[in-house]
Amino acid sequence: MSPNVLVTGGAGYIGSHTSKELARAGYNVFIYDNLSRGHRWAVRWGPLIEGDLHDTERLRRVMEENRIEAVLHFAALIAVGESMQTPEVYFHNNVVGSLSLLNAMRAAGVGKIVFSSTAGVYGIPEIIPIEESSPTVPLNAYGDSKLMVEKILHWEGVCHGLQYIALRYFNAAGGDPDGETGEDHYPETHLIPCLLQAAQGARDPCPIFGDDYPTPDGTCIRDYVHVTDLAEAHVKALHYLERGGSNATLNLGTGHGYSVKEILIAAEKVIGHPVPVVQQPRRPGDPPLLVAAAGRAGEVLGWKPTRSSLDNILGTAWRWQEQHAALARG
Ligand code: UFG
Repeated sequence: MSPNVLVTGGAGYIGSHTSKELARAGYNVFIYDNLSRGHRWAVRWGPLIEGDLHDTERLRRVMEENRIEAVLHFAALIAVGESMQTPEVYFHNNVVGSLSLLNAMRAAGVGKIVFSSTAGVYGIPEIIPIEESSPTVPLNAYGDSKLMVEKILHWEGVCHGLQYIALRYFNAAGGDPDGETGEDHYPETHLIPCLLQAAQGARDPCPIFGDDYPTPDGTCIRDYVHVTDLAEAHVKALHYLERGGSNATLNLGTGHGYSVKEILIAAEKVIGHPVPVVQQPRRPGDPPLLVAAAGRAGEVLGWKPTRSSLDNILGTAWRWQEQHAALARG
């Protein structure tokens, strides 16, 4: 019989792509989402159960009634800037919400979880590429909320035998190769969708934040990883836990970095015309350089990013933007 899994935040960007990969791998996917940031249209690979993370009793019932064997936990607020305006909202949602979920899992006897963490836990790293053992000194409340949940998972493992994998994503990007789901945040603050929307004339010119960083072209360098590669890592993490693998916290990145200007040039190539941009001062809190030491996820999970070339990331993101904008226009 196919295992039943609960995907919190399954109506969101990475959650919906992962739901698709889970369904393809033979899991029965149940999506738990309050639709505060996610989208009904992104729920295609299992039933939607509308609910809030803080509703522990409801979560317990959902898990028992659907004989859930593992949880993939994406539901979170993710906007770094917003987290510095209302940190209390971020800790309430991301930390208290996760505790509620873990309490429900314990009550329902569900002992496995794959957790969405972030490279934002590292802050400004001293050494590049960033190993999982690097110091964790988040620069913002969002990154710290994720780090707190990592610590809670650790102690749940020690004290209650919880099995978990925490996955620290670097820069998730790209869209589903079949165009069935894609990135749609509001407001959109991520570089690639901002560039693509500016190219469509759907927003003002895309700001380029800072050109005086200590990098070869003066703009920030990031490690962009295709969202379907991320999704596949979750399926592998689940298989690993099912085999009884021990708890781990892993980077998900490619080990290669691209600057903002390199992304702009590559995007113009994919789109076929110049993208309107405007040079602006540095955005507060942006580290100059974030690149993953990417080997450990390969060793532990047997995961390798195979879809994360810039061409594929930008090509799939562009197709999604074009199709999605057309749908939104009706
Ligand atoms: N950038 C621009 N213009 C924009 C948007 C971004 O120049 O309009 C720049 C940023 O300054 C940064 C780079 O593009 O240098 C990437 O920015 P994103 O906003 O796309 O992504 P971040 O690296 O800031 O953040 C991402 C995730 C976070 C996570 C972080 C960890 O969105 O959730 O990676 O590295 F915490």
